[in-house]
Amino acid sequence: MKSPVRVVVTGAAGQIGYQLLFRIAAGNMLGDDQPVILHLLEIPPAMQAVQGVVMELEDCAFPLLQGIVATDDANVAFKDADYALLVGAMPRGPGMERSDLLKKNAEIFSVQGKAINNHANKDIKVLVVGNPANTNALIAQQNAPNINPAQFTAMVRLDHNRAIAQMADKLSVGTHELSNMTIWGNHSSTQYPDISQLKVNGEVVKDIDHNWYENDFIPTVQQRGAAIIKARGASSAASAASAAIDHMKSWALGTPDKDWVSMAIPSDGSYGIEPGVIFGYPVTCANGQYRIVQDIPISDFSQQRIDATNQELREERAAVEHLFS
Ligand code: NAI
Repeated sequence: MKSPVRVVVTGAAGQIGYQLLFRIAAGNMLGDDQPVILHLLEIPPAMQAVQGVVMELEDCAFPLLQGIVATDDANVAFKDADYALLVGAMPRGPGMERSDLLKKNAEIFSVQGKAINNHANKDIKVLVVGNPANTNALIAQQNAPNINPAQFTAMVRLDHNRAIAQMADKLSVGTHELSNMTIWGNHSSTQYPDISQLKVNGEVVKDIDHNWYENDFIPTVQQRGAAIIKARGASSAASAASAAIDHMKSWALGTPDKDWVSMAIPSDGSYGIEPGVIFGYPVTCANGQYRIVQDIPISDFSQQRIDATNQELREERAAVEHLFS
């Protein structure tokens, strides 16, 4: 049996947390031979609810679950952490401007970045789910100068999975038959779902009606979160948790040959993106490392959309830059 790894989930009493913790403990994220110790971070008013989640985790008697730490202290939560899924965030309230939202979340993610810096395993893999995810990841990263910046990532995998599902439906194939989907940029309505490299069973997909692609598919993927809120009266939770599991699993255990996944990662300038912003890219993963897929041909149509989401991320960064340590 491998030795256990420590996995932090923030916002552990929230909707996504409730969908996520049980799947991690069941081995869905790191494999069914990897024991885990779960660290649950919440704010003080939610600690009673967290105790209920802890009781339920115990009641599952998961063979891989070797311990649970539940706390409202970030310094305790991130102690010796190997993986962190930063889900808890301040939601956008009535009348709140986007700049207020960025600022409120900057406070949360700077505290957590510092705690990661001071207490986590230096090889920690961090995934930010809480919105605005890309910029929250940047804030955490900027507050953790002793951790390799590349270890801070944000989630565009839900968008990736949504795009695959929409395409599978359109082409009347199974989702497992599709590969090489890309989400470029921000987890926001400027994200760009790019099907230019999409394959069905290894064959490039041609003959997609461009009008459908531009005016139906792209807005459907971009607005899917809002459509779910409208239908369900609450934001996506189970699908978001599932995508978080997928993101970490790909990163830790690797991507299949001849395919890639979408991860928001610190830009190294590839594809002309502003260096440093946390940008959705096509990546392959092996041995716990990700690598940006290079040399994808970019059409004028794609370039315009990539530029728009790049611009949005630059503006988000400018709005919080003064909070970097
Ligand atoms: P929720 O409101 O049900 O749960 C959030 C939890 O975070 C609450 O229990 C709250 O007490 C906790 N929390 C707040 N501040 C905290 C802090 N400083 N430390 C620890 N915990 C804290 O929200 P839900 O539905 O679970 O969503 C969580 C976040 O994920 C939201 O920001 C949402 O917008 C985002 N999201 C991101 C997606 C993506 O694709 N990147 C998809 C869906 C949601």
